[in-house]
Amino acid sequence: MTDLTFSIGGDMQVCRLGYGAMRVTGPGIWGPPTDREQALATLRRIPELGINLIDTADSYGPGVSEPLIREALFPYPPGLHIATKAGLARPGPDQWVPRGDPEYLLAQAERSRETLEVERIDLWQLHRIDPRVPRDEQFAAIRQLLDNGVIRHAGLSEVSVEDIKAARAVFPVATVQNRYNLADRGSEDVLDYCDANSIGFIPWFPLAAGRLTEPGSILERIATRHGVGPGQIAIAWLLQRSPAILPIPGTTSVKHLEENLRALSITLTGEEFEQLEAAGR
Ligand SMILES: NC(=O)c1ccc[n+]([C@@H]2O[C@H](COP(=O)([O-])OP(=O)(O)OC[C@H]3O[C@@H](n4cnc5c(N)ncnc54)[C@H](OP(=O)(O)O)[C@@H]3O)[C@@H](O)[C@H]2O)c1
Repeated sequence: MTDLTFSIGGDMQVCRLGYGAMRVTGPGIWGPPTDREQALATLRRIPELGINLIDTADSYGPGVSEPLIREALFPYPPGLHIATKAGLARPGPDQWVPRGDPEYLLAQAERSRETLEVERIDLWQLHRIDPRVPRDEQFAAIRQLLDNGVIRHAGLSEVSVEDIKAARAVFPVATVQNRYNLADRGSEDVLDYCDANSIGFIPWFPLAAGRLTEPGSILERIATRHGVGPGQIAIAWLLQRSPAILPIPGTTSVKHLEENLRALSITLTGEEFEQLEAAGR
């Protein structure tokens, strides 16, 4: 039986199925969502379903996803953990530019704390290592955020095993967020490293932006057997791939949110898992 919870940083217990709040914004992850009421309704449904990890970032909107989470859920129900990020500037829709000068990272974390209205950010992740700034300076800023109590746990995003090792010399890395799904396995080595070191691995793009929910693949054939949709099989595969994986599918639909939750109760047979593994590779 798969363990359905994971302890981030060894002391922050979360349901392994989280929620990605990047898409409660406008097209190009820019500006307000097209249907604000639907976005708020989706966010409000999250804790009711027992999901207690929400992933967001200062750059989603920018400045749209975090305030919307606060509006929908403050005062936060006990046990709800909001993870946010900084390190990507937004010159325009669909544009993402790494920005990692330490003063900027420190200021953005402080801003997220105020926007979310939390005493301390439960999990703060460096969205990208900025190649123009020595990475140790960026890691030192994270150490400072931990030491000053601005954040409780810290993580990284889109990094190599070597980056994680270098960061761990400066601060405890609680999570790593890299692109990963059944059909996109470029971060297999990073996942294995996280698994071996009790670091939460948060795969972004768990549904390949919805492509893995479409009919016509082996996912659908297996899904029919389990009485679910293809997307839930893609999530169930992630949950079974490693106990350190914390998928955060994004949706602005209450119906899809509820469907995705069903992945938690699916157990793939050994044969199904292997078939998916082979098809994904
Ligand atoms: N660290 C990083 O650099 C990084 C980068 C990108 C994303 N992220 C994080 O990862 C999260 C997830 O990534 P993502 O949102 O890009 O991709 P995703 O979760 O793979 O896919 C989201 C898309 O799938 C659709 N979907 C979700 N559930 C569905 C269902 N049951 N049936 C049909 N369609 C469904 C959604 O449409 P509907 O709204 O219609 O349901 C949405 O368009 C983001 O929200 C964000 O928090 C991090």
